[in-house]
Amino acid sequence: MQSPWLTRRFPEGLPFEALPAHVDRLRAFPERAEQLLATIPPELRTLSDGRSWSLQREVGHLLDLEALGLRRLAELKSGAAELSPADMQNRRTYEARHDDVALEELLSAWRAERDQLVRELSELNAAAATRTALHPRLRQPMHAVDLAHFIAEHDEHHLARIEERLVRDHPELVHVADAREADLGAITAIFNAIIATSTAIYREEPFALEERRAWWQERVQRRYPVLVARRGAEVLGFSTFGDFRAAPGYRFTVEHSVHVAPGQRGAGIGERLVRALFPRAKLLGKHMMIAGTDSANAGSIRFHERLGFTRCAHLREVGFKHGRRLDLVFLQRAL
Ligand SMILES: CC(C)(COP(=O)(O)OP(=O)(O)OC[C@H]1O[C@@H](n2cnc3c(N)ncnc32)[C@H](O)[C@@H]1OP(=O)(O)O)[C@@H](O)C(=O)NCCC(=O)NCCS
Repeated sequence: MQSPWLTRRFPEGLPFEALPAHVDRLRAFPERAEQLLATIPPELRTLSDGRSWSLQREVGHLLDLEALGLRRLAELKSGAAELSPADMQNRRTYEARHDDVALEELLSAWRAERDQLVRELSELNAAAATRTALHPRLRQPMHAVDLAHFIAEHDEHHLARIEERLVRDHPELVHVADAREADLGAITAIFNAIIATSTAIYREEPFALEERRAWWQERVQRRYPVLVARRGAEVLGFSTFGDFRAAPGYRFTVEHSVHVAPGQRGAGIGERLVRALFPRAKLLGKHMMIAGTDSANAGSIRFHERLGFTRCAHLREVGFKHGRRLDLVFLQRAL
């Protein structure tokens, strides 16, 4: 269980240079909420046990608070001494008919307001972004970068609540979420099973958990998603993308990977994991996605073609594994 929101402490005076990272993070939350709930039938999303909000109402709550975030940003811009307080009773969320509308409606309203927040944050210069006002509950100065971090942490808190509920209340349903540190053992095990038994990854040594932790941390720091498909708490597969090549001219092109645990293949999990990457890449301004797959991996080539990738290159004998030279096939898909 995560710690209660009201006991959370927040850093003061985050550097202006950190703003783009917080903006990227803020931009992704509506998409992350959609990705979490996409596979949950509407009647389960809107189900409430009377003690806690339904999964959909958790999303509605984030929409409800967007106006407060925008108001606080306007107050910072106009030089106010103190920010508006939040309604600690959350009346708006209790009274709204969030369970009577389609999830898509909530998400599109939230996206529209989030786009405005993100646009206004992105336009701030260093002087405007570091003008402070008092946060009424925390009794500490907060500027626009601190506010961006505060809102992102609040979103994260509610997405984590949704995930906890999915694991607890719907352990039979598959959901797609951003990987957490606790998933790294399972991710490493999936990598290592594929390394040991196939040429899908050009490597013979298994990965150590610590190495995968550093890899995951680097992706998170760059706001590149590492997604997992879970059934309850069990990780069934993962997908991610990184830079296609290092030179700056390739910055709009990413190369993804997707791997599903042996025994879980052919059930649509890989497709769900790759489809979830497309909007995340678009939110980061990416334009092209590349899949690199061993030429003998006919299943993976067919899988990618079905997802709209087209074969664009066949590189002969560029790989080597198990004493044999291997051909690499590239497929590409515009985002
Ligand atoms: C390729 C992979 C990610 C696809 O994920 P998946 O969840 O099995 O795929 P889905 O159920 O969404 O789609 C099924 C399609 O995947 C392909 N596929 C690839 N390997 C498969 C397998 N072992 N079993 C079933 N389908 C497989 C087939 O094209 C299948 O379509 P078909 O039923 O028309 O033949 C997954 O099979 C896997 O992890 N394989 C081993 C590692 C690998 O090759 N990774 C990709 C490297 S680029």
